[in-house]
Amino acid sequence: MPLTKISLKRFRCFEELEFDLSPGINFFHGPNGSGKTSILESIFLFSSGKSFKSSNLSSLIRYDDTNFYLKAFDSERGYILEITKDLSKPISVLLNNTKTTTSKLIREFPCTTIHNNTFSFADASPDFRRKLLDRSIFVADENFSSDWFSFYRALKQRNSLLKSGYINDISIWNESVAKEGTSLTSYRKSFFNKTLNEFNNLIDILEPEKVFTFLKSINIKFYKGWDGDDSLLNTLSNNISSDLKRRSTVFGPHKADIKFLINNIDARQLLSRGEQKFFSIMWCCAQNEVLKKSYGVDPSLIIDDIKSELDDRVFWLLINLLKHNRNQVIFSCIDDHFSSKISAEFNEFKKFHVEQLG
Ligand SMILES: Nc1ncnc2c1ncn2[C@@H]1O[C@H](COP(=O)(O)OP(=O)(O)OP(=O)(O)O)[C@@H](O)[C@H]1O
Ligand SMILES: [Mg+2]
Repeated sequence: MPLTKISLKRFRCFEELEFDLSPGINFFHGPNGSGKTSILESIFLFSSGKSFKSSNLSSLIRYDDTNFYLKAFDSERGYILEITKDLSKPISVLLNNTKTTTSKLIREFPCTTIHNNTFSFADASPDFRRKLLDRSIFVADENFSSDWFSFYRALKQRNSLLKSGYINDISIWNESVAKEGTSLTSYRKSFFNKTLNEFNNLIDILEPEKVFTFLKSINIKFYKGWDGDDSLLNTLSNNISSDLKRRSTVFGPHKADIKFLINNIDARQLLSRGEQKFFSIMWCCAQNEVLKKSYGVDPSLIIDDIKSELDDRVFWLLINLLKHNRNQVIFSCIDDHFSSKISAEFNEFKKFHVEQLG
C-alpha cells in the first residue's frame, strides 16, 4: 500500500513541493542541505505522525510560517491522507476527510525507517533497540499494544509502592507485572527469533562475509530483561529487597535488549563505524522481511543517507539488498551513483535530484 503522490507545504526548507513516488525504488540525491532528509521525514510522518529527527513537531514548520500541510495519495486504495500542524495546536490527521489518530497510521501506512540514529543501532541504549523491536511488533500484531500498555501500567503501580516503601500489597502487583510481562516477552522473543532467521537468510543471499569477517563470529541474543530460566514472578519475588533499596523494579521486560557479542565481547566495543552501519541496516531489513513474510504487512523501506561512511564495496552490497526487496523503497544519498544502465536493473526505479524538485 505505498504512497504515490506527495505534496508538502511550508514544511522544513520547502515552501511548496510536489512529487510522484514509484511503488518500486525511489532514489533522492542532492548536496548537503538540499532537503533529502526532510523529504524522507515527511514520508515517515505519514506513517507515524512523528518525526525521526525531532520530538518537537513545530520545528518542522518552515521558518517564519505558522503551519505546515502535507498531503499524500495511496492510488491503489484511493486513500487521501492529510496532515496539518499549526504552531499553537496539536497535529491533525485526516484520512479520506475523517479525523484519525496517529497510532492508526502505523498500521495503515507502515514503514521501516533507517536513518542516522539507527546506523549505530548496536551502540545505542537498550531502550532504543527495545523501542525498535516493539514498534515492529505493534505493526505486526494488533493484540500487542494492549499487553504492552497493561504491562507498563502494572509496572508503574509496583514502582510507586516501592517508592513509598509500603509493600504490604506488593505480591498482587508482582503477579500482575509477571502475567503481563510474560505475555509481552513471548511476543518479543518470537519476533526476535524470526528476525534472526531472516538476518541469516539475507547473509546467505548477499555473502557479505567476503567483505566483513566479523559476521562469521557475531552472536545475536535476545535478553528478556532478567537472567536465567526462572519465571518472572519468582524473579520479582526474589528481588524485593534489592528493588526496595533502589525504589524501582530492577529486572523485567522493561530491561529487555538485543545483545551482539563477538567472541563473548560486546560487539559495540569492537565494530568499526562502517561495520556497525552495515550491521544495523541488515538487522532493520531483516525486521522488515519478518513483517512481510510472517504478518502480511507491506512496509515501505526508508533509508536516509545510505552511502555515508561506507566504501564502494559495502555500498553496492547494500544496494544489492534493495534488488531483493519487492516493496516500495525510498532512499537518499548525496551523489548520484545510478547511471541509466544501473537503474534499469532495479524494480521500477525512479530518481529525484532534490535541488531541481522545488
Ligand atoms: N523548519 C525549517 N524551516 C526552514 N528550513 C529548515 C527547517 N528545518 C531545517 N531546515 C533546513 O532545511 C535544509 C534541508 O535540510 P535536510 O536535513 O533535509 O538536508 P539534506 O539534503 O538531508 O542534507 P545532508 O546531506 O546534509 O544530510 C537545511 O538547510 C536545514 O537547515
Ligand atoms: Mg540529510
